[in-house]
Formats: sequence, C-alpha cells, structure tokens
Amino acid sequence: MNKRKINIAIDGHSSAGKSTMAQALAKELNFNYVDTGAMYRAATLFCIKERLVETNEIDTRKIEAAIERMFISFKYNDKSERLEVHLGGKNMEQEIRSMDVAKKVSLVAAIPAIRHKLVDLQQRMAQQGGVVMDGRDIGTIVMPEAEVKFFITADAEVRAKRRFAELQKTNPETRYQDVLNNILQRDKIDSSRAVGPLRQAKDAIVLDNSQLTEEEQFQFLLINARKAMEQA
Ligand code: DC
Repeated sequence: MNKRKINIAIDGHSSAGKSTMAQALAKELNFNYVDTGAMYRAATLFCIKERLVETNEIDTRKIEAAIERMFISFKYNDKSERLEVHLGGKNMEQEIRSMDVAKKVSLVAAIPAIRHKLVDLQQRMAQQGGVVMDGRDIGTIVMPEAEVKFFITADAEVRAKRRFAELQKTNPETRYQDVLNNILQRDKIDSSRAVGPLRQAKDAIVLDNSQLTEEEQFQFLLINARKAMEQA
C-alpha cells in the first residue's frame, strides 16, 4: 500500500464522539491526533484564570491585549499515548474538561484574535502530514486541502446522554438537563458565529452516528481513510 502521509479532518457537532473516533483512527494509522477543541478550551481556561471572562460576558479588547501571554502547546504523553494540551507549559487535560470551561468556551472561541492564533498553530502542526485533526472548521478553514474530510453528527439528545454518562463518572452531581442545554447552546453559537463557524465542507463525508456502535463508526472512517491513502 502507498504509505504517503495524508491529513484527515474531522468536524462535527459538540459531543458527537469526534475525538474518540479521531484518536482511534490516529492510533490505527500511526498518525498524530490533534484535538483543536482542547486548544479552545485551554484558551478559555486562560481567560478564566486571567479574569477576562465573567459568567456571560467577555472583554474582547482585554483578551486581545493578553493574547501574547497565552502559550498553548502539545506534549506527547506515553501513558495516554497521545498529544496532551498544555497552557503555559503545564498539562491542563483535566482542567479544560470542567463544566465551567464548557459553558464559556463558545464565547471565547468566537473571538477572531483567538481563532487566528490557534488556526495558525494548527496549520503548522499539519504541515508535515500524518495528522488526524478534529474540530469545527478543520475541513473548511484549517486544512481545506486535507485528503479526507469527515463531518460527524448525531441527534442532540443522543449526544447529551453520552456526554452525561461520561461526566457523571467524575461528577455525580451533573444534571442531564444542564448537559443537554449546554450542547444545544454550543450548537447554536458554533454554527452562527462570524469567524470559523461550524460548516460541512463541500467534499466532506457525512456520518450520522445516532444509531451506530463505536466499532461500526470506526470501520467506516478507517475504510474511507485507507481508500484516500491508496489514492494519494
Ligand atoms: O470539541 P470540543 O467540544 O472539545 O470543543 C470545545 C469548544 O471549542 C466547542 O464549543 C467549539 C469550540 N471549537 C471551535 O470553535 N473550533 C474548533 N476547531 C474546535 C472547537
């Protein structure tokens, strides 16, 4: 088989299982997995720590001024066998998954200066090929030349149930209704923002996984990725 390293873009709605699929695919193909949602979450954590974002308000100008001090990077973790996000050199994989960050991330991700900085970083990470990157604007803005593009979605309630089950493991007080509301709100903000909105690329392969098992989805993605590798 032709072993030339292609790039794979995976976009879709919040909690549609993109990162689970992207990680499994990267592992199988021996590619690097880049979780761009983690980068926007790390940027949000930065804004929270710097007191630049209150409950539903953001000070865009202050954020723009502080952006030079925001240092987001990835380091490979041998244990998890993946690249993990760091803020100011510190591993933040746990902290970025909190409900507080989830509630504020769409606001922060809508700021053009934040997107500009992170898209630039993402494009540099993809330069050498061999990357599976997931997010909202990967096939449209970050890697429009990616050899394979997937757009993954599922019913909002199916996504909320899956996310709820996951969050309950670490926080038993999580309420299903809060999780569903957060997903619906993020869908709305992610799809309607002016810069880098969630859009399906024209040449994306669409996968609605509401009724599929993880194994079925994985096989679907793998078959399409291998096909593209053969053609590259
Ligand atoms: O994939 P995730 O749920 O961890 O992403 C967190 C948030 O980041 C999500 O609400 C939308 C935003 N995001 C984005 O705007 N662009 C990306 N490429 C990835 C994520």
